[in-house]
Amino acid sequence: MKVSAVAKIPEHVIEDVRNQSDIVDVISEYMQLTKRGRNWFGLCPFHGEQTPSFSVSVDKQIYRCFGCGAGGNAITFVMDIEGITFPEAVVKLGERAGIAIDSSELSITPVKQVSAEETRMLEAHEFAASFFHHLLINTEDGEAALHYLHERGFSDEMIKEYQIGYALPNWEALVILLERQGFDLAEMAVGGLVIARDDGSYFDRFRERIMFPLRNDTGKVVGFSGRVLPTSDEEAKYLNSPDSPIFYKSEVLYNLDRARPSIRKARRVILMEGFMDVLAAAKAGVTNAVATMGTSLTDQHCHKLKRLAEQITICYDGDQAGLEATKRAAVLLQQKKLAVEVAILPDSLDPDDYITKYGTAAFVEQIIERPQAYLAFVKYAARKGKNFAYENDILQYIHEVLAVLAKGSSPMERDLYIRQLAQETNISQEAIYADYQKLARDAEQTATEVKAVPNFTPPATKITSSGDVAERIILAHMLADATVVYDVRTGENTNAPFLRDAYNAVFVHLLAFYEKNAPDYQRFLMQLDEGELRKIVVEAATFDTNEDRRQEEVADSLRCLRKERIKWELEEVKQASVEAERMQDFAQTIELAKQYVALQKQLREL
Ligand code: GTP
Ligand code: MN
Repeated sequence: MKVSAVAKIPEHVIEDVRNQSDIVDVISEYMQLTKRGRNWFGLCPFHGEQTPSFSVSVDKQIYRCFGCGAGGNAITFVMDIEGITFPEAVVKLGERAGIAIDSSELSITPVKQVSAEETRMLEAHEFAASFFHHLLINTEDGEAALHYLHERGFSDEMIKEYQIGYALPNWEALVILLERQGFDLAEMAVGGLVIARDDGSYFDRFRERIMFPLRNDTGKVVGFSGRVLPTSDEEAKYLNSPDSPIFYKSEVLYNLDRARPSIRKARRVILMEGFMDVLAAAKAGVTNAVATMGTSLTDQHCHKLKRLAEQITICYDGDQAGLEATKRAAVLLQQKKLAVEVAILPDSLDPDDYITKYGTAAFVEQIIERPQAYLAFVKYAARKGKNFAYENDILQYIHEVLAVLAKGSSPMERDLYIRQLAQETNISQEAIYADYQKLARDAEQTATEVKAVPNFTPPATKITSSGDVAERIILAHMLADATVVYDVRTGENTNAPFLRDAYNAVFVHLLAFYEKNAPDYQRFLMQLDEGELRKIVVEAATFDTNEDRRQEEVADSLRCLRKERIKWELEEVKQASVEAERMQDFAQTIELAKQYVALQKQLREL
């Protein structure tokens, strides 16, 4: 059952759960911890590592990983490791501690209550899955299908693990069994297992197909994909369950339930086009792969992925359709602030074909472990099918790459790719750059039309370590003393006092928190849905600050951030000036030089 994140469990109940869930006990149920001094240590479950950098403090009742920065308390640990929401974690820990939380009474409003109807549909799917599986592995009827699967490299263990099955050619095999089990066929038709005829009778949706159960996030079978046997003259290669109350194609990601732990560990998801590819990848030991179910990637898919990892490797088919789909998926994922790389398959192969042709080791070493940056992929895709003997192809090529560059790239990426384009095509960098600027201006125009407040937020990579520390110190004081929040708010950059977006996001949450609560970072932590933000809070809360020198420390740190901002502006002016010179725009060059001097002066006076 999915429970809403805005649910209201009374504070005192949350407090009880928190007090009765000792962090070492809770975490020990998921991983091994060893005591060293006052603290406990282990291998961080949120990223792959050989030496333990995950530490748990009994005194503070928090955990922290010095490797990946993960951190929080017992409740947020359960949220992160199980991939569940705050109220779900409280309920779970409540159960464990013997604190009954009656969800109806406590207005934990389920986003989607599992109705009696849905429960029956789930039961029917479970039943159908085991029926199909039985037919495949134990009966003569399933022999041809089993042979085909073996031919395709499926081991018996895989077949068992994924509960692959076979549907008989009969029109009413499942209908009869479901009825005998007491299921209502009209309901089963809504669930997608059977189809109603005009005369009110029913027939099996899936006939003479190899059956792949589709599971939801919690591992329940909610649908099937049936593949034809090679001997069949059926047209559709795959037949999928229709959308139903328990199955939404636009939300489901094949294998997500199984892949979740390895996704967390690798901090990366491999996204594929076909579920057969995911199964092939599993054979190669790549267990963090998922696939959409024959639809293109949706917002809901992205949202699910984002809760698990920030890094996505798209590994779609290598044919033209696959390249186009990769671009569309990449644009969407990047909009959702996910980092995208592309594992490119050669010769129009899909992952499954590639493994059959070159083997599992090659797949891992050459494809999965060697993803391309998105822009490098764009270049590859644009180059495909073009002949540089033709001018038109060259121009088209450059234009396609520049169009993507213009939509958003760092100065360094710009420089790198424009240089590469010049080398590849023998067109001068200046000419390409001029073209780029035109496209960038157009892109900027559309962007400013939708942009809200022009906040000053340099990318995280730009920040120096002193800026980094300054932000942490300010936040640490904010967590301990609400007045610091209000003081900073009355100063400059009131809505975004920090350099990094994530810190500003924490700041906004903290403002809201202080409207109702006194300082209590543990309680604050639990109101943050995003793991990234919790990391920042734990990092700051455990940072050594001196509360007797609160005002001075905050003032010093704010000054440091102001310096950082000016340095960043200087860098921008410098960059703009290089570009102006390149364009031989001397008036602009002089103007920028003036700005540069003024900024330097400001910096000195700080
Ligand atoms: P194999 O030929 O068995 O290797 O399949 P594949 O994984 O290479 O499938 P393909 O790349 O052709 O298609 C990718 C995905 O699109 C599949 O996993 C299905 O979800 C979907 N798909 C493909 N063919 C059909 C079809 O005929 N009908 C429907 N509904 N979906 C399909
Ligand atoms: Mn295939």
